[in-house]
Amino acid sequence: MAASHAAPLICVLGPLLSGPLAKADGVCSGGASFAKGPSVIDLDSTSAPCSRVFAPRVLTGDRPTGQLHLGHLFGTLLNRVRLQARGVDLMVLVADYQTITDRDSPASLPEDVDELVADYLSVGIDPARATIFAHSLVPELNQLLLPFLSLVTLPELLRNPTVKDEASASGMTALNGLMLTYPVHQAADILFCQATIVPVGADQLPHVEQTRAIARRFNSRYAPECPVFPEPEALLSDAPVLLGTDGRKMSKSRNNAIALAASADETARLLRQAKTDSDPHITYDPEGRPDVANLVLLTALCEEIDPRQLAEQIGSRGAAELKRRATEAINERLRPVRDRRSELISDRGYLRTVLRDGSAAARSIARSTLTQVAAAMHTNY
Ligand code: TRP
Repeated sequence: MAASHAAPLICVLGPLLSGPLAKADGVCSGGASFAKGPSVIDLDSTSAPCSRVFAPRVLTGDRPTGQLHLGHLFGTLLNRVRLQARGVDLMVLVADYQTITDRDSPASLPEDVDELVADYLSVGIDPARATIFAHSLVPELNQLLLPFLSLVTLPELLRNPTVKDEASASGMTALNGLMLTYPVHQAADILFCQATIVPVGADQLPHVEQTRAIARRFNSRYAPECPVFPEPEALLSDAPVLLGTDGRKMSKSRNNAIALAASADETARLLRQAKTDSDPHITYDPEGRPDVANLVLLTALCEEIDPRQLAEQIGSRGAAELKRRATEAINERLRPVRDRRSELISDRGYLRTVLRDGSAAARSIARSTLTQVAAAMHTNY
C-alpha cells in the first residue's frame, strides 16, 4: 500500500453573511486555495508522457430520506449555489443506494427522490449548470466499488467514527456489509467523476480521508506514471451547527427541523414550541444560552444581519418577541423557495427528466473514467 501522505487539505468557504463572493475564494489549510485555476497533479515532466490534469470539480450529495431543512440551507445548499454562480463544475448526487445502509428501500423512495430534487431546484441549483444524478441510474459508478474494496482494510473500515455512530444510532444488532463499506462506495461517488472538492459537514471528513487513501493507493498500485484519480479536498462550511426546536442538532430524523417545504403555519407552530430559557433579556451567547442563541442565529441568517445586533434590537422585549421575529424572518426568507418548490412538486415529470438527464451526463463521465481504470488495471480486453 502507498505510504500515507499529509492530512487532507480542508478548505473553509467564506461566511455567507460576509458579502462579496470574491471573499469566498476559499482558504485551505496550508495556505493553498481552490477555484483559482485548474489544480494540476504534480508530475515529473521528465518521466512518462502523462498530461493528465484534474480540472476543479465539486461533488456533493444527500441521502433521499426526507425533506431538507434550514440546517441544510445554511450549512450546504447556499454554498452549492454560490459555487455554481462562480462557474464551478458542480455535481449533485441523490445518494439512493446509501439509504439502504440502515433501512429497507421504502415504497416511498420515488417520492423521496422527487422531494430531494425539488428541494435542490427550489433553492437555486440549476440543472442547466449543475449535474443532478442518482446512484441507481449510474451503474458505472457502482462498478468502481469492486476494485476500491480491494484497496481498504477491515481494521480501517471498523475504525471509521461516522460509521460507528450511525450503526449505533440505527440500533442494529450486527453491522451489515453495506453499513461497513458505504464509505468506500462514497469514494466511488467522488472519484468516478474525478472530483477535486467535496463540500461536506464535519461528520463526513472520515469519508473524504478514506477517499483520498483509495485514490492514492489506486494511483500508486495501478497508475504510478499517470494518476487516474485526484486526491479530493473537503470543503467545510463555516456556518455553525444549527439546533432544532428541541435544542438538539437539527435533523430530519429527530422531528425538530424546519423543512424548506413546511408551510408558514407549521413554521409558526414549531417556533412556538421552540425551547428558550427563563432570562427575559435576549442576548447572543451560544455557549451560555444555546437555545436562545440558536433562534437569534436562525433569524439573523434569514435577515442577513449580525446575530449580536439582532439580539440587541430585541433585548428586553424577550423570548415572545424573538419568536415572533424568527417566524417572520424564516417565513419571509423561505417564501420564494416554497413558492418555487410547490410549483416543481406538482410537475413530477419534469423532476424525473432533470434526474434522468443529469444521470445520463454522469454516466458518460463514469464510462470515460472506467475506460481509464480498465487500462490501468489491465482489464481492457
Ligand atoms: N453521506 C452523505 C450524508 O449522509 C451523503 C453522500 C453520499 C455524500 N455520497 C456523497 C456527500 C459524496 C458527499 C460526497 O450526508
